[in-house]
Amino acid sequence: MTEKIPYLDLPAQIRSVRKELDAAIARTLDNCSFCLGPDVVQFEKDFAKFCGAQHCVAFNSGTSALHIALMLLNVGQGDEVITTPYTFVATSWAISYVGAKPVYVDVEDATMNLDPKLIERAITPKTKAIMPVHLYGQPFDIDPILAICKKHKLPLVEDAAQAVDAKYKGKVVGTFGDISCFSFYPGKNLGAAGEGGALVTNNAEFAKRARSLREHGSTVRYYHDEVGFNYRMEGIQGAVLGVKLPHLPKWTAERRRVAHRYHELLRDTPLQLPREAAYAESAYHLYVVRHPQRDKLKEHLDANGVGCALHYPLPLHLQKCYASLGHKPGDFPVSEKAARECLSLPIYPELTDAQILRVVEVIKSFFK
Ligand SMILES: Cc1ncc(COP(=O)(O)O)c(C=O)c1O
Repeated sequence: MTEKIPYLDLPAQIRSVRKELDAAIARTLDNCSFCLGPDVVQFEKDFAKFCGAQHCVAFNSGTSALHIALMLLNVGQGDEVITTPYTFVATSWAISYVGAKPVYVDVEDATMNLDPKLIERAITPKTKAIMPVHLYGQPFDIDPILAICKKHKLPLVEDAAQAVDAKYKGKVVGTFGDISCFSFYPGKNLGAAGEGGALVTNNAEFAKRARSLREHGSTVRYYHDEVGFNYRMEGIQGAVLGVKLPHLPKWTAERRRVAHRYHELLRDTPLQLPREAAYAESAYHLYVVRHPQRDKLKEHLDANGVGCALHYPLPLHLQKCYASLGHKPGDFPVSEKAARECLSLPIYPELTDAQILRVVEVIKSFFK
């Protein structure tokens, strides 16, 4: 039987750093720093440095980091936040959690990132922030969006959940906007052994308030300055992320190797391949190809033991949870087309050339 190729091979990554992880987790068990603690503090320092930022505040998820980011900007009831309908739903959750309204703007066909040309017409007096996503690990075009933010005096929140170590014009994402939010969900490029996230900023006041908000709105134990949350990162996650962070540049390079190999080998197929913009160095969290017969192609890959996935099959404006926004099919046609055509292929640092060749062979057999 031919070897199955999993869509994601987390065990392979864990194996590659297992000894270091065992030691780090044992240290947490020994010192019993289960909630925040020294490993989380150290990771915050290391991650801030990695991003070239002054402050990093670690959370129990990327969703929590996004929620707190909007609270720091005092976005609230009745406000609007401009964002993309073509992303994981958590980007919009943060907007809903603070009582604001997600105002969707369609994406560019080439990158599937928020289209800067469409943003200004969506700005109203209620707009309080712009929150695009570096989708699939490719930075959105930051400069034109920053220019719009500056012109309209709006803050920029980068949803960098999928884009740790991605570069925009040669610089790692994280400090272009006012606040950037990352996810360390296990399947992310830098994954915890459970849930995790972080907020990165150069604003000391934001960092201070974020630390308080993640810990029940308190800086002095049992004294609460405002209604807060239990959004702390677990000590074990800080330890695990501390082990993995030094390996990240090498892992990003390996993801880029896989992506370039796919580009080369799939160039002469009818697939639309991911296009890396001139300003971007994608971290290739996902390698998403497109084809009108996506569902049939997926069936073919599944039947031949090649794992694949859909990111994302239904844009947010058409989700049941956002029916109250009153959108209908056709409102964001580029996102809707991408949702019908997208197919994520296996991509991870440990994917071998033989496995890549097998994925390509199965795809080519579909088009024969
Ligand atoms: C674009 C995007 N935003 C936000 C999140 C939320 O992160 P988390 O799962 O860590 O809450 C994710 C990841 O799942 C994501 O992909």
